[in-house]
Amino acid sequence: MLEPVLAFAVLLVNHALGAELFLNPGMEQPDMVGTWGNAWGYKVDRINTDSHSGNYSAKLYQRTQSYQGIGQDVALTTNTRYAIEGYVKLLNNNSKMSQEFEFMIRYQWSNDFSNSSWIQIGFHRFAHPKDGWIRVAADFTTPLRQWHLANVYIQGPDVGIDYLADDFSLKEVPENTTWRQASLDSIERIRKSNITLSVNVGAQYDPHFIEVEVALRSHEFGFGSVIDDAAYLDLGYVTYQNLLHEFFNWATVGTYKWGYNQGTPTHPNYDRAVNATNALLKNGMIVRGHNMFWGTTGDTPDWAQKLSSDQLKATIDERIRFMTNITYGKLAHWDVNNEMLHGQVYEEITRDPNYSQHIYRAVHAADPSVKLFLNEYNVLANGDSTEDFVRQALSFKAANCGLYGLGLQSHFADYVAPDPILILRRLKRLASTGLPLWITELSLANKNENVTADWFEQVLTIYFAHPAVEGVILWGFWDRMGVNSD
Ligand SMILES: *[C@@H]1O[C@H](CO)[C@@H](O)[C@H](O)[C@H]1NC(C)=O
Ligand SMILES: *[C@@H]1O[C@H](CO)[C@@H](O)[C@H](O)[C@H]1NC(C)=O
Ligand SMILES: *[C@@H]1O[C@H](CO)[C@@H](O)[C@H](O)[C@H]1NC(C)=O
Ligand SMILES: *[C@@H]1O[C@H](CO)[C@@H](O)[C@H](O)[C@H]1NC(C)=O
Ligand SMILES: *[C@@H]1O[C@H](CO)[C@@H](O)[C@H](O)[C@H]1NC(C)=O
Ligand SMILES: *[C@@H]1O[C@H](CO)[C@@H](O)[C@H](O)[C@H]1NC(C)=O
Ligand SMILES: *[C@@H]1O[C@H](CO)[C@@H](O)[C@H](O)[C@H]1NC(C)=O
Ligand SMILES: *[C@@H]1O[C@H](CO)[C@@H](O)[C@H](O)[C@H]1NC(C)=O
Ligand SMILES: *[C@@H]1O[C@H](CO)[C@@H](O)[C@H](O)[C@H]1NC(C)=O
Repeated sequence: MLEPVLAFAVLLVNHALGAELFLNPGMEQPDMVGTWGNAWGYKVDRINTDSHSGNYSAKLYQRTQSYQGIGQDVALTTNTRYAIEGYVKLLNNNSKMSQEFEFMIRYQWSNDFSNSSWIQIGFHRFAHPKDGWIRVAADFTTPLRQWHLANVYIQGPDVGIDYLADDFSLKEVPENTTWRQASLDSIERIRKSNITLSVNVGAQYDPHFIEVEVALRSHEFGFGSVIDDAAYLDLGYVTYQNLLHEFFNWATVGTYKWGYNQGTPTHPNYDRAVNATNALLKNGMIVRGHNMFWGTTGDTPDWAQKLSSDQLKATIDERIRFMTNITYGKLAHWDVNNEMLHGQVYEEITRDPNYSQHIYRAVHAADPSVKLFLNEYNVLANGDSTEDFVRQALSFKAANCGLYGLGLQSHFADYVAPDPILILRRLKRLASTGLPLWITELSLANKNENVTADWFEQVLTIYFAHPAVEGVILWGFWDRMGVNSD
């Protein structure tokens, strides 16, 4: 008779807000199989010689697949926000520079038992044994579709890599019904101030009949859009140019990319990007440069990826010299090396895990007036890389290599309403770095333009209200163009 009562009590506890949803989260209870399940095709032991906290951790070894890791079937609710975290420690390495961890959920769908979806919910990249205990954390929202089983687990390191796991946690993220009022209050406090006018008129005028007109000439807060540089320079697009000048005070020129070079490897040609930058400056706009480097295999020229380490280093230094020469004193911001959480070809070729810090240092030395940014996706509109970005930002900050701030792309998935609660949760984490934040590539879309407008109003209110956010750049403002097509 005791068992059902006990199960019921556990169920109640699990559904209380903020309650821990994992069983045996700290590996302190001896029953690993009953809590973290059978290790299929690998081995897991509870050990007491090393732990993140408490007396025990789980040791995973003899792994024969990269997806092998501890996990549990968890009672999650549809369309609900959760925060997950855990600590891992690599015990060995292989010839690769680093390993990666991912939190995953496998959903076995109710209406299709034979079919499952595997969803990645959180990442930690570039992990190394010398890092010791590593925190992996993320937040996510469960789907609307009904499932029969949801299994949450960790995966990632290569076959043959052993690691420890400890202090896992999975909790519901509490609702916040006051965020809008809190944001409006913050806007009153930090984005507005009173103007005191002292008007002296001759005694012959009755002050009651004096009208004073005050016009806003420019915003301190940055508000901009990426431009199509060809259209911006084309006399056939005067309306596009005028709207840009009327709505915005900032613009991003996105054609400084290595892959967008219109010249040859030895004689680069960025005339159009520079001409557009000059024209923007002439019209009183402030310009972001996007981007000098982009270390994914698809966005670094093929010929550069075939260079030796020394050749690549010399080529990168020459590109820094060339790009800072043609833009010297013109740009306010540089996205120096774009999306580094998603590609590090320079680090791999040079075998130097900190190579990009050299790039930032060299750009800063060549043009100290331009503010340098890391620029990343899935850190604000989606939470799978927020913690990873915070960690990278702190290491760049500690390296003192000329980094100014964090570029948060903010590309929301089409037709999915932005979630103010998770956006605010992620902004809080990103702001904890102490670095200024810029929303650099805001995009969202719904088939109904009124819904799109409401969504823009919501996220712009949140961004404008946040004290660490210095500006918002839209990823285009016209459905016919905005982002360069080439
Ligand atoms: C760890 O072990 C010590 C000694 O056996 C014990 O006193 C302590 O309660 C244990 N800690 C935890 C968190 O179980
Ligand atoms: C792997 O670890 C060994 C021992 O710490 C170290 O000498 C070696 O450089 C590491 N390999 C890589 C690719 O980091
Ligand atoms: C599983 O579901 C997906 C999406 O619902 C579908 O595209 C796929 O064909 C299904 N696979 C099987 C084997 O039923
Ligand atoms: C709700 O969000 C606002 C804005 O971030 C914050 O100031 C407030 O403390 C939050 N309230 C709760 C209960 O978390
Ligand atoms: C502006 O003036 C109003 C009315 O006097 C006052 O309540 C408010 O606190 C002032 N705001 C600031 C930011 O000084
Ligand atoms: C850039 O501007 C220069 C000077 O006005 C002009 O000669 C050149 O054709 C322009 N190039 C491009 C690609 O716009
Ligand atoms: C750019 O390079 C040219 C040609 O080498 C040189 O004359 C010029 O001074 C450089 N400008 C800057 C700002 O470095
Ligand atoms: C990389 O930089 C970090 C932080 O500045 C430093 O702790 C680490 O030793 C560096 N690694 C290498 C291989 O230089
Ligand atoms: C959007 O709202 C306007 C004004 O209320 C209305 O005229 C228009 O039909 C709406 N558009 C859609 C797609 O619902």
